[in-house]
Amino acid sequence: MTTNGMGNGAAHAHPQNRSYVVDDPQKGVFMLDRETLVSEDVLRGEMKNIFSKCWIYVGHASELKKPGDFHTRRVAGRPVIFARDAKGEVRCFLNTCRHRGALICTERKGNRRRFNCVYHGWIYNNTGELARVPGDEAYTSAFDQSGLAMREPGRFESYKDFWFLNLDKDAPSLVDYLGKATEYIDLIVDQSPSGKMEVISGTQEYDVQANWKLMVENSVDDYHLPSTHSTWLNYMSNSGVKVEPPKEASLVLPTKGLAIDLGNGHFTTDNVNFRGRPVAAWIPIYGEDAKPEMAAIREELVQRLGPERAKRVCDTNRNLVIFPNLVLNDGSSVTIRTFYPDGVGKMNVTAWALGPQEESESARARRLDAFLTFYGPGGFATPDDVEALELVQQGLANWEDDRWSEMSRGMGRENEQLNSDEHHLRTFWRHWNKMMTQGNGVAAGGAK
Ligand code: FES
Ligand code: FE
Repeated sequence: MTTNGMGNGAAHAHPQNRSYVVDDPQKGVFMLDRETLVSEDVLRGEMKNIFSKCWIYVGHASELKKPGDFHTRRVAGRPVIFARDAKGEVRCFLNTCRHRGALICTERKGNRRRFNCVYHGWIYNNTGELARVPGDEAYTSAFDQSGLAMREPGRFESYKDFWFLNLDKDAPSLVDYLGKATEYIDLIVDQSPSGKMEVISGTQEYDVQANWKLMVENSVDDYHLPSTHSTWLNYMSNSGVKVEPPKEASLVLPTKGLAIDLGNGHFTTDNVNFRGRPVAAWIPIYGEDAKPEMAAIREELVQRLGPERAKRVCDTNRNLVIFPNLVLNDGSSVTIRTFYPDGVGKMNVTAWALGPQEESESARARRLDAFLTFYGPGGFATPDDVEALELVQQGLANWEDDRWSEMSRGMGRENEQLNSDEHHLRTFWRHWNKMMTQGNGVAAGGAK
């Protein structure tokens, strides 16, 4: 028998009308079918039912400072060009030549008025139109050059400079999709006096030999902190940072770390901060010199936002997940992290640091230091997380003989969901399961 009395046979008992989760709130049992993390069929189903239906993060407007700036990216499995066109508009094009399908732009980033396909030399403006076809006299009048602009995703919209695409043109608007998650994005954007945050140059990129959904779980799973991150916790306490929550609660500061379901599969942790924030909670690691400037940053926030809101911005932190694959870490630095499946047992991770546009050099240095110290691929946290996720993927090789992951932690605790419970992980998996089974219990993507 496996945990909670579920035998392995349970997975095979209802192949025609199956759910990938066992969800029994009455008994307080939640279990996840490990097939979700190892199956090629499931991955195919995800590309169809999730990545082709949800709003997927593309980039931040600040990455495109001037007309002509562009980045090429893979988003929702699709190569795209994220660009600011000649008119200054932020655009997204499918990076596929209308002629015979080659990637049009092969550079990672740059500034171009025109994109030239290397294969036969078709040339597109950065506003999308097909500008030039070498040897166009060889075509008949049926050849309609004006109808051969670069294709765009079904939808492309932004919320406060965060740009997302949706391959489904009938999807609800981005703002409706984000719903309550916008409140937590606002807590980030409010850190800038002008309401303008910017991506700080320098991208972290790494691969993890693990299913992409394990990164979703890990990004908000505070249960693993004492065991996986003991090295970092020791470093913090040796540096004079007291790693324990304050005793007194207030309206804006809960005493416990919470986990909050934001609907549509989005969720966040919401913690009292006690590990320092560049905006603007001083800890000894920043040094005495930083104190006056950090006090001034806080004062500006109090003046602009009022004392309650300023306290909320400075003295709480959170890890927000926008379903399915965007994480905004608003902690010891602000990090945008996104990850895409590259096969069932591998993901590509990209992370950027975000900071107020008007930040001083010294404040920027503190922010980048925190970005590297904790979240960086050589930092105190990420290598340990990566190792843990890869160990999970290796362990999952036994999935057929040990089929269910136990995810019931905190189920009896209905009113107050803690960040060290698995409530928020269940939120993700329930939504994922609904999308994959299209709400009718029938698996899409051919899962048996
Ligand atoms: Fe691009 Fe032929 S495939 S010009
Ligand atoms: Fe971690």
